[in-house]
Amino acid sequence: MGRKTWESIPRKNRPLPGRLNVVLTHSRDYDVGSLEDAVTCARINSALELLGMRPYDLLIERVFVIGGGQILREALNAPACDAIHITEIETDIECDTFMPPVDNSLFQPWYSSFLSVENNIRHSFVTYVRVRRTATDIGTQINTTKALSSKFEVHDFSFLPQMVFDRHQEHLYLKLVQEVLSSGNLKDDRIGMGTLSKFGCQVLQEKGIHIWDGNASRIYLDLIPGDFIHVIGDTHVYRNHIEPLQEQLQNLPKPFPINTQKKNIDSFVATDFELVGYDPH
Ligand SMILES: NC(=O)c1ccc[n+]([C@@H]2O[C@H](COP(=O)([O-])OP(=O)(O)OC[C@H]3O[C@@H](n4cnc5c(N)ncnc54)[C@H](OP(=O)(O)O)[C@@H]3O)[C@@H](O)[C@H]2O)c1
Repeated sequence: MGRKTWESIPRKNRPLPGRLNVVLTHSRDYDVGSLEDAVTCARINSALELLGMRPYDLLIERVFVIGGGQILREALNAPACDAIHITEIETDIECDTFMPPVDNSLFQPWYSSFLSVENNIRHSFVTYVRVRRTATDIGTQINTTKALSSKFEVHDFSFLPQMVFDRHQEHLYLKLVQEVLSSGNLKDDRIGMGTLSKFGCQVLQEKGIHIWDGNASRIYLDLIPGDFIHVIGDTHVYRNHIEPLQEQLQNLPKPFPINTQKKNIDSFVATDFELVGYDPH
């Protein structure tokens, strides 16, 4: 973190617990106090070098850059940054410090939580992952055979916290498929193929809302217009689709190929969609 961020943390809360606090400052004699878990460094690179050496390399699993604005301007889109965890706030607040925008040509969303409201502030938690090292990789990935070797692997993202890795939104769909395959009831259908079927499935598990038992609860009533709740009466899989779906369940989700800054679903037009580096299984 930058020196100013360090100073913005109340003394009693410094250093932030459970981690080594690296404070960046150009000043040689800046004193973080005789705190065990706090050190200073004069450059971001020298901080990364320090953390790669004994004993830190054995003790530290992952380096997080937490700000403030000055540090993020240097570090946010830099090649060493593999993922960005961000709280996106949908409220106008007067601010004096700003972070740079996420470079959407390099990062794509992996996970976005549903919107929550706290103190009247609508917010969601979003994780972006790096899918390209540089902007020129885009051409490389699409046009040359190097594309295959530079193709990203889902396992490259297993460094993400498990609860983020598992919450890629395609998992919601895959879990539903899994549920229908494992506990669906055999049912006849109009075309005589036969289905495995479950009734009343819905895709809004994150808030713990269950359509049949929760629709009179406070949390249900507090849902915000714009939350996407997909309630499916009869969720079913045709018998001749079971095998392909079992195969699909083996594929781990990749970052979504489409990214756009638009937030309001009604403001999308067809030209907003651009398919870049489409990489199906
Ligand atoms: N909302 C959030 O998630 C969040 C997160 C973090 C911070 N913040 C807020 O952001 C504000 C601080 O941000 P800020 O942009 O003003 O300052 P900052 O980035 O926290 O710190 C800037 C200072 O860091 C040092 N520094 C910057 N680049 C450096 C580099 N490459 N190498 C070595 N040292 C470097 C310099 O210290 P010297 O002047 O000592 O050389 C510089 O003055 C605070 O209000 C804090 O609460 C918010």
